Amino acid sequence: MKPTPSPGPRPFPAGFRWGAAVSAYQIEGAVEEDGRGESIWDRFTATPEKILNGDTGRQACDSYHRYAEDVQLMRDLGLDAFRFSISWPRIHPEGRGPANAAGLDFYDRFVDELLANDIEPFVTLYHWDLPQALEDAGGWPVRDTAEAFADHVDVVASRLGDRVRHWITQCEPWVVSWMGYGTGEHAPGRRSEADAVAALHHVLVAHGLAADVLRRSFAAAQVGITIDVVAFEPHTGSAADAEATVLADAFRNRIVLDPVLLGDYPPEVRERYAAELERVEQEGDLRSVSKPLDFLGVNYYTRNVVRAGENGEPVVVAVDGAERTVMGWEVYPNGLHDLLVRIHDRYQPPVLYVTENGAAFEDRLLDGRVDDLERASYVERHLAAVGRALEEGVPVQGYFLWSLLDNFEWALGYSARFGIVHVDFETFERVPKASYGAYRDLISAHRGALRLTA
Ligand code: FCB
Repeated sequence: MKPTPSPGPRPFPAGFRWGAAVSAYQIEGAVEEDGRGESIWDRFTATPEKILNGDTGRQACDSYHRYAEDVQLMRDLGLDAFRFSISWPRIHPEGRGPANAAGLDFYDRFVDELLANDIEPFVTLYHWDLPQALEDAGGWPVRDTAEAFADHVDVVASRLGDRVRHWITQCEPWVVSWMGYGTGEHAPGRRSEADAVAALHHVLVAHGLAADVLRRSFAAAQVGITIDVVAFEPHTGSAADAEATVLADAFRNRIVLDPVLLGDYPPEVRERYAAELERVEQEGDLRSVSKPLDFLGVNYYTRNVVRAGENGEPVVVAVDGAERTVMGWEVYPNGLHDLLVRIHDRYQPPVLYVTENGAAFEDRLLDGRVDDLERASYVERHLAAVGRALEEGVPVQGYFLWSLLDNFEWALGYSARFGIVHVDFETFERVPKASYGAYRDLISAHRGALRLTA
């Protein structure tokens, strides 16, 4: 007799990838080792007043030296896949020109270590650490940067493409361009709307060029991009709030999703940035940017409730009594479900991965334990939201928790801990938190449920 499936967690499809994510600058450290060049984050973190407590990524989690220990943590967790990024200045210290063999060797060893432990590498080719030399030559607002990126990707893919199948060209183009060049909260810290628009356009062009390079080199390459999305909802049922919500969504989500998946910027964006786009857009760019993807990566953290402010511009409303993380981000799992469904309906990417989702809370290490029950609950509820989207037919094939390790959280330095493994930033000791055990149990429960229903 077939065993009756337990009322436990619903089986996610066979082949669903249970993963975790990190990025190079946030964990590696070793910024001056083995010929690595300077990145915009090295320069930015060395600039007074840019980063909370003056923190830098000089040592971060020291994963450059401790990666084997990290891989054991992944293995004990039961991960199928790990998403990490390649530091561009480790491979091309000046952004272009001769490659640094020691940098390539490092990622070669790391990929082998993952594979030896049955963990599939998902490689992000750009997670924000632009070589400073390229910023000095104009940065993302100039087109040359996109071309240098394509050449860099060619070198990386030639070395790792025999073992890496999944490639993410760019991570969060909106954050790269708006926070790096618009508000200046992130490296390189410029404050110009025109630069932000130009940067966004070239990050997207870089995605298109890199996708071509990968496909030319490897027929089996699975090529995607990671886009960060916010769940916007109107504050009231008024028409004005509804319109403000549409605007917020256009300038935060569709500004990247539409060009990549539909081949044009949203009309609202075209209208507002007509002059800025005219300066940078070339014939055929958006055709290249919107070539079919193998998958779309979605990063989801929070929702924003929006009302119409002056001239109908969206204003974010603080929801009373909302559950929040230390980032101030509202915990809103349903937003992940709603966005997955909406992205599936509107854009139909063949496959979706949740490439980041997670939370920073005030963790306390007491007697060698961190009882981060809020984080465990955050992950469990967001996975349930993914489960609902799956049941409604959205082809989600994996979930990458942000993050395996506490790490360097950009402008907030080490103050915001997102890891399911606690890191002591002086000794680099790793201590799995309660959420690590909870995620491990969830993964194995889902695998067990699959076996029962097989
Ligand atoms: C995302 C970034 C990632 C991490 C999380 C918290 O926007 O991609 O590096 O900082 O936020």
